[in-house]
Amino acid sequence: MAALAILPITVDDLPFVRAMLYEAAFWRAPSAAPPMREALNQPGLAVYLEGWGRPGDTGVIARIGEEPAGAVWVRHFNADDHGYGYVDELTPELSIAVVEDHRGFGIGRCLMTAMLVELRRRSVARVSLSVENDNPAHLLYESMGFVPLRAVDGSTTMTRTLT
Ligand SMILES: CC(C)(COP(=O)(O)OP(=O)(O)OC[C@H]1O[C@@H](n2cnc3c(N)ncnc32)[C@H](O)[C@@H]1OP(=O)(O)O)[C@@H](O)C(=O)NCCC(=O)NCCS
Repeated sequence: MAALAILPITVDDLPFVRAMLYEAAFWRAPSAAPPMREALNQPGLAVYLEGWGRPGDTGVIARIGEEPAGAVWVRHFNADDHGYGYVDELTPELSIAVVEDHRGFGIGRCLMTAMLVELRRRSVARVSLSVENDNPAHLLYESMGFVPLRAVDGSTTMTRTLT
């Protein structure tokens, strides 16, 4: 049986990470989602990965053997250019998804744990995310210490304090 590995995201992983952004954005009805290239070029989604490699960009990927199985990453934004879960310039926003066939086995929790360790290592004080209120992912976030900050149009911005 191939082993699970949690590794830093590299530039070579970006096509897979983009696929995970698409999964996270269209979690409710993947079959009704617009084509991936078109969807990821929309400004609301493009901000999460375009020009990857800015200061503070970091994340980890789960691999089962050679096969990528999920990813989590964070990015800093500012008031003029940001994602749905923006809080402030010091607070990076987190995105996460696991390949459908690999969900429910603990990979999301492993990814989140590794991401929080890395953020602490970088002395990041707080991380945020946005989750639609009917996405069961909120159960993972709550169990890992994220708390609601504000509600916005059917979604909740949550934060996790790290220091
Ligand atoms: C959310 C997601 C990353 C979780 O990854 P995962 O590997 O399936 O999660 P785990 O197996 O580690 O489970 C962690 C917790 O997630 C919660 N959870 C996540 N999805 C769930 C679902 N569909 N139903 C029930 N619980 C769910 C549970 O609380 C679970 O804890 P438990 O095992 O103690 O019950 C994954 O379901 C996913 O990729 N979903 C689609 C993309 C998405 O919605 N991303 C988040 C956008 S905000």
